[in-house]
Amino acid sequence: MGANSHDLIELIRSRRSIRWFKQENIPEEDLTRILEAGIRAPTASGGEQWMFAVIKDESKRKVFHDFIRRGQMIYLSRMLKNPLKEEELRKWETMFDKGIYLAPIYIIGMLNFNRRTLTDEYLLYEYLWGVESVSLALENMMLSAWSLGYGTVWLAVPKLLEEELKSALNLPPNTSYVGALALGRPNEQPQLRPRQPLESSVIFF
Ligand SMILES: Cc1cc2nc3c(=O)[nH]c(=O)nc-3n(C[C@H](O)[C@H](O)[C@H](O)COP(=O)(O)O)c2cc1C
Repeated sequence: MGANSHDLIELIRSRRSIRWFKQENIPEEDLTRILEAGIRAPTASGGEQWMFAVIKDESKRKVFHDFIRRGQMIYLSRMLKNPLKEEELRKWETMFDKGIYLAPIYIIGMLNFNRRTLTDEYLLYEYLWGVESVSLALENMMLSAWSLGYGTVWLAVPKLLEEELKSALNLPPNTSYVGALALGRPNEQPQLRPRQPLESSVIFF
């Protein structure tokens, strides 16, 4: 039985971000299928300006989890236009202690400047198009993971501590953090999060 377009749309419609994971190993073949689906994404100039760091090692996972925590606290306390109050921030700290965002695998998607395709004059486009390519690959991975019964959440907040993160995890030089996925069997069943009605996000000419 092959996938048809109806299955794919249903899969997309049912995906939701997962932040609590079972601490179960992910079989190598599932991980490979997810990563391979990732790099089938369209890529600007056919350049594959990406690099994916897969974190499975126990101690490195804890290091990355701590970057998620610290990034999240910066986001909630300083970045938001309406920052959280002290009491709410403490609730978040407790959730981190209990293991929110702790996943058996993290996949960090990075822009790889070792694979440039554009001249220096168009460096901004190299950056933008590279970020877009990495993002498409990560979305492919999210959907493939969902189709195999895994949950994911996109993690932007470690970017706030990028330089420190790169040296802590020894990430390759000449790369830039775009986003990461936490990946694992869901340990929660969140409701589908609502969207604005189509008419308010789409214009027809
Ligand atoms: C660019 C981007 C960055 C995100 N960063 C984070 C993040 O750092 N932490 C997090 O918990 N969720 C993050 N998310 C997930 C969103 O919060 C989530 O997609 C949104 O609330 C809608 O929920 P849904 O994915 O379940 O539909 C991010 C999503 C995107 C697209």
